[in-house]
Amino acid sequence: MKVCVVGSGGREHAFVETLSRDAEVIITPGSLAVPESTDKPPIEVDADLFVIGPEIPLVDGLADELRSRGHKVFGPGSDGALLEGSKAWMKDVVHAAGVPTARYGSFESSQVDRAIEFLSSMSPPFVIKTDGLAGGKGVLVTDNYSDAKADIETKLAGLSFGDAGRRVIIEEGLRGPELSLFAICDGQKAVLVPTSAQDHKRLGNGDLGPNTGGMGCYSPIPEIQRSQLDDLMEIAVHPTVEELKNRNIDYRGVLFAGFMMTEDGPKLLEFNVRFGDPEAQVILPRLRGNFAEILMEAAEGNLSTVPTVDDDAMVTVVLASEGYPSKPITGHVILGVDAALAIDGASVYFAGVDKNENGELITNGGRVLNVCGRASSLEKARAIAYQAVELISWEGMQYRTDIGASVQTEID
Ligand code: AMP
Ligand code: GLY
Repeated sequence: MKVCVVGSGGREHAFVETLSRDAEVIITPGSLAVPESTDKPPIEVDADLFVIGPEIPLVDGLADELRSRGHKVFGPGSDGALLEGSKAWMKDVVHAAGVPTARYGSFESSQVDRAIEFLSSMSPPFVIKTDGLAGGKGVLVTDNYSDAKADIETKLAGLSFGDAGRRVIIEEGLRGPELSLFAICDGQKAVLVPTSAQDHKRLGNGDLGPNTGGMGCYSPIPEIQRSQLDDLMEIAVHPTVEELKNRNIDYRGVLFAGFMMTEDGPKLLEFNVRFGDPEAQVILPRLRGNFAEILMEAAEGNLSTVPTVDDDAMVTVVLASEGYPSKPITGHVILGVDAALAIDGASVYFAGVDKNENGELITNGGRVLNVCGRASSLEKARAIAYQAVELISWEGMQYRTDIGASVQTEID
């Protein structure tokens, strides 16, 4: 089987590596640092299966375009991708499906006064979300009423997030730990990927500093039982797939569901229509069996192989450029990757890497490398990841030293 992965980040590199166990794989656009890369656009690539990594091409309808040309695609069409592309639409779907979720109101640019009135009826914490895609940065959670009001005004005016903010969702603030799951769907049903992963979204140790795309991740979360994930599938994922079917949406791809475990039970926070990044980097390599075949079955609407995951733990540490997340400085030569890869249990995925004319790896993005450790326990996996990290360097490299630490203290 020949598989074409669409994307260029660490998640897509992990896809390439995992799929290569059983298939011939190419990636577009990938990067000069990933040998399987091609600069042909997806529609010019000849492949039996297309796997689309990021949300933007899904929301923009790449899967529809490929399917209309007779290709098999793992990834929803633009209709299903609206679960991530429009929070107002997602709320409407899950409400119709009877999935527990925060109370909310949805308002557009012409309804600023009504939006503020609705805000006044809520109690803190106030939660304001852009309707459209905002790279994970469109959500404000605050106890301060004036900040919430100002955020609504600037979002609706299109000043902070452009058109993505011209509709906002104002939500009841929930409290509790968060939990995510991944399910694979074939248009008729959804099957759990039976493991859990914990992302670290803040830039700094101890969950301090600005929000990022994710600074590291580990899997599995030791406290999470399989039965909890099965319950969340029953409460949220299966009813949502049924509701999508009611709306004639043939959803073939990943459903990534994020929950808050409140005192009143689990509440759905969001759906993403793709694997998490960097969650994929600590889940995909641990999948047993033929991953390409599972994705093909889903793409064909006939998923019969149940995904299983081995018992190892994995930790990934994101190495980022100086200035990330606001203004990453790129173009520095990266040293030490080969030495890191020589460590037993270590792997490295390229998230923002290019090559210069001398063939050296250079930084080419905010998040640059995902350095992973894999072992029989979380502690061992973490030690391997950080041992590998210590061999890698470039000017201005930054990373968290507490990824996967049960007590969030620094290691040196
Ligand atoms: P979302 O993109 O909708 O998942 O929101 C991003 C993050 O904002 C979540 O991971 C939560 O940490 C937080 N968040 C979202 N919705 C709520 C809510 N209703 N109450 C409290 N925190 C929330
Ligand atoms: N790591 C979170 C995400 O991919 O949205």
